[in-house]
Amino acid sequence: MLWLIGNKGMLGTEISRLLEKRGIPFTGTDREVDITDPAALAARAASIRGAASLSWIVNCAAYTAVDRAEDDGEACRRLNVLGAANIAKTAGDSGARLIHISTDYVFDGKGVYDESLRGPRPYREDDQTNPVGVYGLAKRDGENAVLENNGETYIIRTAWLYGRYGGNFVHTMLRLMKERDTVKVVNDQRGSPTWAFDLAGAVLALVNTVDGGGKVPFGIYHYTNEGNISWFDFAGEIYSRSRRLGLLSRDCAVQPCTSAEFPARVTRPEYSVLDKAKIRSALGLAIPEWNKSLEKYLAEMN
Ligand SMILES: NC(=O)c1ccc[n+]([C@@H]2O[C@H](COP(=O)([O-])OP(=O)(O)OC[C@H]3O[C@@H](n4cnc5c(N)ncnc54)[C@H](OP(=O)(O)O)[C@@H]3O)[C@@H](O)[C@H]2O)c1
Repeated sequence: MLWLIGNKGMLGTEISRLLEKRGIPFTGTDREVDITDPAALAARAASIRGAASLSWIVNCAAYTAVDRAEDDGEACRRLNVLGAANIAKTAGDSGARLIHISTDYVFDGKGVYDESLRGPRPYREDDQTNPVGVYGLAKRDGENAVLENNGETYIIRTAWLYGRYGGNFVHTMLRLMKERDTVKVVNDQRGSPTWAFDLAGAVLALVNTVDGGGKVPFGIYHYTNEGNISWFDFAGEIYSRSRRLGLLSRDCAVQPCTSAEFPARVTRPEYSVLDKAKIRSALGLAIPEWNKSLEKYLAEMN
């Protein structure tokens, strides 16, 4: 039995639907089993084990409001550090393997300079973390807490997630493009837009591989869609594809700007590209390009 924690969030819902589609037995919880309450987690684990063996816990629950976290650090840490540690302990006590989701925000976004590229290379799993905001710091400390509390843990770091079941950049852009004649988008931050559906597939590929006897070492893995782009270019692609597919019926000019023109509570990473060689080789995954996945996603919305 697999226990999916945070099953009502954007990624959790996507994983939940994929588990249902594939007929994989699972149980899902969200706020009704508070991850900051170890007794609540232990009680639910015991009740699951009363009916079936609990072999996996997948944690998608988190505090994800990056800007709000700057003024709400205690609540952010309660979920992303304490909550994550509680889940890891529960998994350890239950003899379950844990998959915990983390983020590119554990890095500072300055990149690791590569002479041959004359610029930054994608971040590897063992590159030095250096979070710059409250959310990133809590997620980094959460990673450490999870690893300390349960050696049988997989951490999957991802970035720039969008999907059907939560607020995200694609939805925000489509709304603004319906309302406005121009939309300004930052052109000085690069990353890999990632469809939550593809990440859900990677999470289940990990479960299937291990359950099938494949040897996948515990530890940290990176997963995003392939390729990378700036937010401005991503917005331009969302616009042109949505116009073509009939999701947008009016013109809107997408204009580039700098982060300085959009003062935010948190400095966003300039360079968020993650190296995925490790997960590709561990699971034999073919990771979709971000533009192919965006096209499929928008076509499904139509
Ligand atoms: N979204 C991104 O762009 C992105 C990028 C990189 C990494 N990630 C990581 O990916 C994971 C999933 O992100 P997501 O965007 O799917 O998050 P999400 O939509 O915010 O989902 C998180 C879920 O956790 C629930 N939750 C909140 N407090 C809880 C508690 N005390 N006990 C149990 N559940 C609680 C939330 O409920 P409420 O909605 O009621 O609060 C929500 O359903 C997170 O670990 C996140 O850090 C996300």
